[in-house]
Amino acid sequence: MSAEFSPFQDRLQDLIAMEMEKLVSLCKRRGFLFQSSEIYGGFGGFWDYGPLGVELKRNVKECWWRDMVTGHDDLGVPAGAPTTYEMTGLDSTIIMNPQIWKVSGHYDLFHDFMVDCRETKKRYRHDQVKGRWVSYQDKPQFFVATAVEENCQPGDVEHRALKFLNLRAKNAADLKWETELVSLVTVKEFSQVLGPDAKTLGTLTEPREFNLMFKTYVGALSGEEGAAFLRPETAQGIFVNFKNVVDSSRVRVPFGIAQVGKSFRNEITPRNFTFRSREFEQMEIEFFCHPNTSREWYQYWRDRRYKWYTDLGLAGERLRLRDHHQDELSHYSCGTADIEYAFPFLAPGEFGELEGIAHRGDFDLRSHMEGKLMRQGDQLVVEMGPDGKPRHRGSGKDLSYYDDLTKERFTPHVIEPSAGADRGTLAFLCEAYKVDTAPDEDGKPTERVFLKLHPRLAPIKAAVFPLVKKDGMPEVAQRIYRELKSHFNVFYDEKGAVGRRYRRQDEIGTPYCITVDSQSLTDGTVTIRDRDTLEQWRIKADDVASEVTKKIRGG
Ligand code: GAP
Repeated sequence: MSAEFSPFQDRLQDLIAMEMEKLVSLCKRRGFLFQSSEIYGGFGGFWDYGPLGVELKRNVKECWWRDMVTGHDDLGVPAGAPTTYEMTGLDSTIIMNPQIWKVSGHYDLFHDFMVDCRETKKRYRHDQVKGRWVSYQDKPQFFVATAVEENCQPGDVEHRALKFLNLRAKNAADLKWETELVSLVTVKEFSQVLGPDAKTLGTLTEPREFNLMFKTYVGALSGEEGAAFLRPETAQGIFVNFKNVVDSSRVRVPFGIAQVGKSFRNEITPRNFTFRSREFEQMEIEFFCHPNTSREWYQYWRDRRYKWYTDLGLAGERLRLRDHHQDELSHYSCGTADIEYAFPFLAPGEFGELEGIAHRGDFDLRSHMEGKLMRQGDQLVVEMGPDGKPRHRGSGKDLSYYDDLTKERFTPHVIEPSAGADRGTLAFLCEAYKVDTAPDEDGKPTERVFLKLHPRLAPIKAAVFPLVKKDGMPEVAQRIYRELKSHFNVFYDEKGAVGRRYRRQDEIGTPYCITVDSQSLTDGTVTIRDRDTLEQWRIKADDVASEVTKKIRGG
């Protein structure tokens, strides 16, 4: 991220922040998202989806399941895939045998480093604090820190440095900036750090490890014997069921197992709406293939998953596919790419992860057979404890695969596209939020806020209105409403001026409004209005269901 901002970028950032605030307020006002436990003051890192939010998020998950699993054609070779493949699903438990997390590496390695501020009692993730070294006259230089996800404005660091030194804005030119924005991870002398919210130097503690798994106790045993964890990812539930799925269904490698469900991480600094929550949902696929073709499958899934987002409307420069550098790869991964979105709450040039696509090799299946693995040179070997036995024992079960056509036995390699349902939902909302000018009911151009959601994602697909509440129009509109209800989610509204009813639907992303007017009573036609183009046309009332269905499917 560049630390140099032009006044234009400053203004742009202000504008973006303002739009984000408006989106957050729309989400609350119209029932997309609420703070969890709000009447008790909320609960950090937990969010509830309201009546419209639940529909939107369900649509995101259902589109994913339909496009990846039930709609997948097992018989054809999809564009870019090396061969045909099969897809199947699973729903495993949230709490599993704790040995799974020891073997997977989560027990030992799934931690973040945190720093605490002794002055403000605030806690930060070490790698999420950035700052600049600055000096002034003969005073020793110091590091002005800021939490990166707090939507820090370009002038914040300068403002805080001036305030700390008791200087005015006109003295800004006297500050000597020694560095651009750099991570706190690069800083060794904590005594010279001005914490993100602190007034004095040296209040941040040294970084400490913090395991992100939520611990719980199962049964009547309250000590370590009964300790278990809420799953931090859905993936392990798939790996430990690999053999069950192979033995109970007729799937053959290559095939994928998909799972959608809750995951829990005790994030140190949950923030940015639902982006970093403590309870969230994942949509994960573990795709099992022959080691010789795993690179090609990795490439296929990387591109396939990127296309899924663009097909649903996340096009343009705010979405990107980024390959990880070698030093960013997890301990198990031999290749990872992230699909990222430039969320409006991030600083200009910053992107947030929507999904990771990882080539995990045979790490997971081997771990669950042999015990927790560690890297030794370019080999994965079982990590030994001081007693010369595996540090964390595997299941001892054979999770290799026998191909009865080639007569070969091998441990499949895994490609893992792992997406966040909440981050996806938030990105679709951010991308959809639009403001334009459209004529109101008197024909006067006024500002219009609308959510340009893909019709497949829209919580309500169509709204049905009688133009006026008399002359038999409500009866006809209600008949159409009931007929559409059996196909998709529809809303009936007869209250207020029709122009206002249109605006209310635009604001929640309803793609089509159907209006019954006096002509409908004589020729059986109604008007359909398109949310994005505002175009209106007449069709037969009996054709509304098929017309809207065709449009939702992109026909
Ligand atoms: N099984 C691999 C895995 O869990 P991850 O990158 O840690 O990989 C996958 O998580 C996805 O889950 C992320 O790309 C993100 O969309 C979502 N995710 C992770 N942590 C999250 C959090 N605290 N809040 C919301 N979504 C989160």
